[in-house]
Amino acid sequence: MPGFGNVVQAQHYQRMKNEKKLPVSVERWEQQARLKLEDGPFWYVAGGAGAGDTMKANLESFQRWSITPRMFNDVDTRDMSVTILGQTFPYPLLLAPIGVQSIVHDDAEIASAKAAAEMNVPFITSSASSRSMEDIAKAIGDKPKWFQLYWGKDEDVTASMLKRAEQAGYSAIVITLDTQMLSWREEDLENAYLPFLQAEGIANYLSDPAFRSKLKKSPEEDVMGAVQYFLRIFSNASLTWKDLAFIREHTQLPIVLKGILHPGDAELAMYHGANGIIVSNHGGRQVSGAISALDALTEVSQVTQGRIPLLMDSGIRRGSDILKALALGASAVLIGRPYIYGLAVSGQKGVEEVIRNLLADFDLTMALSGKKSVSEIDRSLLTYR
Ligand code: FNR
Repeated sequence: MPGFGNVVQAQHYQRMKNEKKLPVSVERWEQQARLKLEDGPFWYVAGGAGAGDTMKANLESFQRWSITPRMFNDVDTRDMSVTILGQTFPYPLLLAPIGVQSIVHDDAEIASAKAAAEMNVPFITSSASSRSMEDIAKAIGDKPKWFQLYWGKDEDVTASMLKRAEQAGYSAIVITLDTQMLSWREEDLENAYLPFLQAEGIANYLSDPAFRSKLKKSPEEDVMGAVQYFLRIFSNASLTWKDLAFIREHTQLPIVLKGILHPGDAELAMYHGANGIIVSNHGGRQVSGAISALDALTEVSQVTQGRIPLLMDSGIRRGSDILKALALGASAVLIGRPYIYGLAVSGQKGVEEVIRNLLADFDLTMALSGKKSVSEIDRSLLTYR
């Protein structure tokens, strides 16, 4: 039976000339998204911290590693599956938590969540989603889903969201550590664009009983009052490692820490009982001039040594990027902007197409490198130059 990548590739080649053509490369999805979106939303997605140095570094670091393919290895039948936190997923790919998806498409997270479920890729719902975590969970059904928490100043809201996530059927809590505040984002400042100010991306707050109980008037009566309270509590720059005990007290779910870059922080994460780590610099959106996520991964994986699942995002664009991240110690990777461009251009169908193409590219790259399963991919495939 032909492999996943071969099938998708054949479908592309056999496409009727008059069929509506969707982009294949991420760069072309981005160009088409640019044509659809106003400056504000487009740059909110495509921009980064400062002048975008970290974003560029994320992409460039993949170029410094080369794959040396191996031959005569029988790669006819392949297996892309991985097991993370006791769950087996068919592919080493998850959709990263991305907030305020309503700014690029009216169907927002519902469309991307359905696409993820359709493609059998886990979806990570953001705290800052445009639709409630319950509605998104419903769209995903019984397919895998994690919830990402922005850990803010109001403990009641934090505890309530953790409880809701558990009740809605999410199977892990991702805590994003790198957003104690928003960074200096030049494009967004130039465009005076922050969607939360227009009450976009706060559905989880508006629907939260603890959040609502803190407001003088309900959000239906006074949405700007709700926005003000959201802005006050959204992040908490005073948290430290010992505070993690609070999360542990309020959830039975595995805790995955997102935004780790320093090997010392990976040590601390393990010491404080994290069940997984996502090496990430938030797609270059927080610290300009930061270490690339791939470089950080090589250092962090020395520390974790396979003892806890190590995921990675920030800069994954192609199958070869996935292969390199896995070879350098990642158990799986996440994509952010690529699927948001798919959503902007073609809604659910666009997200599915982005996922399908990326997985096909990965499958073919894995095979052509002489490997037939993710478990066979290791550091010996790569050379640093
Ligand atoms: C993000 N990211 C993010 N992360 C998170 O933990 N919670 C969130 O709500 C968001 N929101 C968000 C919005 C937008 C528009 C972008 C582009 C990113 C970061 C995201 O999860 C992921 O770390 C990066 O997007 C990965 O990098 P790439 O794939 O975009 O290069």
